[in-house]
Amino acid sequence: MCFMKLSTARISLLCLLLLLTASVTAQNETGREVTLIDNGWRFAFGHPHDTGKDFNHGTAYFSYLAKTGNGDGPAAASFDDRAWRLLNLPHDWGVEQPFSERASFSHGFKTSGKGFPDKSVGWYRRKISIPETDLGRIISLKFDGVFRDSKVWFNGHYLGNEQSGYDGFEYDITAFVNYGGENTIAVRVDASMEEGWFYEGAGIYRHVHLQKVNPLHVATNGTYVTTDIKQEYANVKARVTIENWSNDNNLGNVEIVSTVIDPQGREISTKQVVSAPKPFDISLSDSEIRINNPLLWDIENPNLYRLVTQIKKDGKIIDTYETTFGIRSIRFDPEEGFFLNGKHLKLKGTNNHQDHAGIGTALPDELQYFRIKKLKEMGSNAYRCSHHPPTPELLDACDRLGMLVIDETRLMGTTNLHLGAIKRMIERDRNHPSVFCWSVGNEEWAIEGNIMGERITNTMQGYAKSIDPTRPVTVGISSGFRNGISSVVEVMGYNYLGNGDIDAHRNQFKQQPGMGTEEGSTFATRGIYVTDDAKHYQAAYDRKPRPSFYSIEEGWKFYATRPYLAGMFIWTGFDYRGEPTPYGWPSVTSYFGMMDVCGFPKDNVYYLKSWWGNEPVLHLLPHWNWQGMEGKEIDVWAYSNCDEVELFLNKKSLGKKKMEQYGHLEWKVAYQPGTLVAVGYKNGKKILTDIQKTTAKPDKLKLTPHEQTLSKANGVAVVTVEVTDKNGLHVPTAANEVTFAIKGGTIIGVGNGDPTSLENDKFIDAINLVSITDFKEQALTTADLPQQLPSYPDSGWNDAFKNRDYKNLAPAYVYRGQFELPDLSSNKRVMFFYQKVGVNAVIFINGKKVNPDKDDAQKYILSADVLKQGTNTLHIIATPVHKVKDWDVINTDPGIIQVVTPAEPYRRKLFSGYAQVIIQADGGGKDVILSATAKDVKAATLTVSVK
Ligand code: GAL
Repeated sequence: MCFMKLSTARISLLCLLLLLTASVTAQNETGREVTLIDNGWRFAFGHPHDTGKDFNHGTAYFSYLAKTGNGDGPAAASFDDRAWRLLNLPHDWGVEQPFSERASFSHGFKTSGKGFPDKSVGWYRRKISIPETDLGRIISLKFDGVFRDSKVWFNGHYLGNEQSGYDGFEYDITAFVNYGGENTIAVRVDASMEEGWFYEGAGIYRHVHLQKVNPLHVATNGTYVTTDIKQEYANVKARVTIENWSNDNNLGNVEIVSTVIDPQGREISTKQVVSAPKPFDISLSDSEIRINNPLLWDIENPNLYRLVTQIKKDGKIIDTYETTFGIRSIRFDPEEGFFLNGKHLKLKGTNNHQDHAGIGTALPDELQYFRIKKLKEMGSNAYRCSHHPPTPELLDACDRLGMLVIDETRLMGTTNLHLGAIKRMIERDRNHPSVFCWSVGNEEWAIEGNIMGERITNTMQGYAKSIDPTRPVTVGISSGFRNGISSVVEVMGYNYLGNGDIDAHRNQFKQQPGMGTEEGSTFATRGIYVTDDAKHYQAAYDRKPRPSFYSIEEGWKFYATRPYLAGMFIWTGFDYRGEPTPYGWPSVTSYFGMMDVCGFPKDNVYYLKSWWGNEPVLHLLPHWNWQGMEGKEIDVWAYSNCDEVELFLNKKSLGKKKMEQYGHLEWKVAYQPGTLVAVGYKNGKKILTDIQKTTAKPDKLKLTPHEQTLSKANGVAVVTVEVTDKNGLHVPTAANEVTFAIKGGTIIGVGNGDPTSLENDKFIDAINLVSITDFKEQALTTADLPQQLPSYPDSGWNDAFKNRDYKNLAPAYVYRGQFELPDLSSNKRVMFFYQKVGVNAVIFINGKKVNPDKDDAQKYILSADVLKQGTNTLHIIATPVHKVKDWDVINTDPGIIQVVTPAEPYRRKLFSGYAQVIIQADGGGKDVILSATAKDVKAATLTVSVK
């Protein structure tokens, strides 16, 4: 094995090479090209069982399962999708729908999926061109996750079906490619079925990539990096799986060059010579690199290294594969809890689902960073992906920002379904330093307390460890502590104090480490301080929510004071759609979050900051706008880690109180408007104050982006919307409805954290596709195409194309069809997307000739003066298409009418003083200008620059 330090010149050359690898379309010299293909997809709703509404898909005599290439309807390459909506991924059609009481409690009452067949199947189509020079490479489509039950076709060839809404999948399309020409990807997504009991979105809500590699390449997820930390150095071990996806049996020996690049860009390489795999086989190569004085990955300093693996043959680079990893050690101790790099670390965790206000599950990557940063600001150091594997970008954010992760796959069992899910999760995620534990189940009530649970856990856990022996396995258990799963699982996952005697379990299983995989499930509505069941409001004081559940403070006191418990994971960090316990309709989001769905903090955040964070904290609640409550008692609380806190109302002291560890302070205060001040003391010294002031009425809107400058052309800014009074004070009770306009970008969603808000999350153009029905024809005697519509005998109409004798065609035909426009209000835009039913054609709508669009000779923009409300008549007069061969298939579909109802401007009410707008710059790199207006207050404008 050779270790060598590379010269500076080589370093910069390699860095450049790596940069190129990372860029969206990498250069061929690396042997690998991965392109994000998120933009420019066409989308339309299909139907789970009405084939007419599913574009007649699946009706062919020889189906796509009978003969390859036989994808029909939108699965066929030739399908005309011009009238479909154009969109960019990630996309969640669930969040675009309105709410209804009839819809699913779990999915936040959005009218898609189960029970809404017209909005439960979505079709996506995209064209890609692949150059002739790619011939000989292995080309594949990689989907990071589609919710759910997706089927994919490429140029009409069926590639496969992925049921899971959370697992990534990949299809090799090499053989089906039209090299040097256009290719069509078609995806049918069926979200009729739910997998979880929380909002899951619908559609292609994660990224899609096109990958091109040489037949000899590093397999997908084909590196496994482990690190072994010694006194002053660390050994980095890399196992590389290479794959020969060809019939070539004579590849001989190849070189595997492994280069570790440290956070400063310094490199160390090693080289192995291995014999190339046999055709359609793999071979493994192990290497070890010693890193002196390694920079460890931890929560404060998430140092990341990169491993660049190159396959070389005769000096030529055949493949380049990059793996990000960290050098760190983890250990659970049954007595002392968790250790990171040998140092004790109490896990201060939250559980989270993957949706966000306004955008559902389709999060741009920046939102992952936004959310993880918010959790870190709260003092949290750990994240449980409840209850499924996350999108890869979430793990990247956790790696880069320093957040530990429990990665989870939920359904317990021992078939390929369950074990396959474990394998995919672990092989995809095992190089992420943030991932410290695998979870293979959550609250499996049928098995958790019995022998079946024990058996299943033994298999799942053993299987997980066979793929990654470096991390422990846990299961979140809600009943049956001391038996079943809990008697065999490696790290006991306690779901809730109220569900059993944790100390008794621990006394019985002294060798088993444990942590609170769920705790809390408390209820709070942001900015609300009086519980009002009629309004579905839960006061935001941290109180015991239900008889068998505990407050955050009770939970933390329990976990913080037991060294044997590694820590706890609060249910949840953020509110999410669905599970609006303790209410139902019209509440549509949960109440459990420490933050609301936008990431605006509820007061509990400051309790956690006090006892989880390292900074002095003093936070006073509630706000001090209680007009009409004069003289009545109000509960005033302080969250703080100061030794003592003194409270003043309008300069008069209401007493100084001592803070107990992990506690909070309370006063009863008779309300008078004015200024409530808390003063915090540490070691007798005044160190902090917090103020709640009665404000005047709303005066002016204010917009604040989470970042002033967007780093990339299509970057995202999360903008806080609020109103201030005439003195510039935030008005905490404001509920103004704010309307937004944008230039240089797009608004991609709005929210406000109100669990009962049934306002739109998105304002998008509605596209209706109207079929042409009753399609008839008459044969004509001349090929001359008239400029005015002649009249035709009523009796002469026959079903179009029925019994047509292609050997004896008429010189021309006139076709007649109908389409319905029940609502033709003035803002509608109507278009006819014609599909050729003849060679030359003239088209008439309601007797008036219409002309094709200048950019697309088969598209007709239909103006209001040719249309009418109700039934419209279409005539096409065309010379016929002749069959060259008897079996030629002639198009008989005249096309489709598209009716566009333009979106209303984005708007949202403030809730408890705040709303959120998520904006995305368009690719142009110009400034994005967002303006906000509302009745009775001054407008605001925000300019976000794009670097
Ligand atoms: C737990 C469950 C979570 C969530 C929570 C709400 O039992 O694991 O997914 O449903 O309850 O309290």
